[in-house]
Amino acid sequence: MAKRETFGSRFAVIMAMAGSAIGLGNIWRFPYTVGEGGGAAFIIVYLISSLFLAMPIFMAESIIGRTAHAGTFGSMEKLAPGTKWKYVGLLTVIAPLILVSYYSVVGGWSFEYLLKALSFSFNADSMDQIDSMFGSFISGTWGPLLCHTLFITATCLIVLAGVKNGIEKFAKLTMPLLFILIVLIMIYAVTLPGAAQGVEYMLKPDFSKLTGRAVASAMGQSFFSLSLGVGVILIYSSYISKEENLLSSGLGTAGFDLMFAMIAGFAVMPAVFAAGIEPGAGPGLIFQTMPYIFVKMGMDAPWLSATVSILFFLTIFVAALTSSISMVEAGVAYLTEEKGLSRKKAVFVI
Ligand code: PFF
Repeated sequence: MAKRETFGSRFAVIMAMAGSAIGLGNIWRFPYTVGEGGGAAFIIVYLISSLFLAMPIFMAESIIGRTAHAGTFGSMEKLAPGTKWKYVGLLTVIAPLILVSYYSVVGGWSFEYLLKALSFSFNADSMDQIDSMFGSFISGTWGPLLCHTLFITATCLIVLAGVKNGIEKFAKLTMPLLFILIVLIMIYAVTLPGAAQGVEYMLKPDFSKLTGRAVASAMGQSFFSLSLGVGVILIYSSYISKEENLLSSGLGTAGFDLMFAMIAGFAVMPAVFAAGIEPGAGPGLIFQTMPYIFVKMGMDAPWLSATVSILFFLTIFVAALTSSISMVEAGVAYLTEEKGLSRKKAVFVI
């Protein structure tokens, strides 16, 4: 059996876990579900659910993983030997793979938009096409396929480098940077003309919009955002050393994730209102709203617009990457630990 690696420090644990937690869920999904669910009322349910449902489950996964010091299948077998619980463990090997199959598609979109930003495609000439740009890209064949392939290849290369040299190093390098970037983008967004309405939307609850569906969606968001129920937190926790305080690293991760989602909301929602776009526009929200803002801004300040657009899509791309590596790692851990495959073979199979 391959020797188990462990994360090097508390900072590394929190960065790696936050790397999994902070992703498209925070920057892409959170703002559009807040938009669909009626704003602040949705956020209140999300916060309550994060604190009282998601956090205890996060701790439970953490404790199981660290105690058993094994992947999902092995943990169940160790803690309940000879029972059928190990098959629940097996399910949590499959679930992240199903997740990553669509997550990487949206990851590919973020890569395409990063390329568009790098090639200064959000300019005055593109104003009329901004709305259709997104639709025509995602309904194409080769573009999304190529971007998806590049995204998943990047994911696999990081996982291939291992827990310490790949996952830990990449998260330690990128997560603090992402935080700084999203704060800068938020500061810019709230100063846009017309942004105040977006800030109000995030802060003033309108409970009449809070349908049963919105409540379920807010609860789902709190689970998705903390990467719960699919074994990923369990696996990352199995890489935590026995000396580490699980409550501190858990609170650090959840706090970072919540804060990031709120900041992303305050970055996107004011921009949505400033652009005069419907907040309930759905999954295309950031891919349609933000370029619109960048085009408008580019008319007065082309360099500022180019810089902010590159930073914005870079943030989404890297955040998506640190999450998708955790999903791929779940399957890789199973194949290396339970089936004796080398990391290289396991990554290839996954
Ligand atoms: N928490 C990630 C996000 O918010 O984008 C999504 C995620 C990652 C869900 C890993 C589940 C998972 F196992």
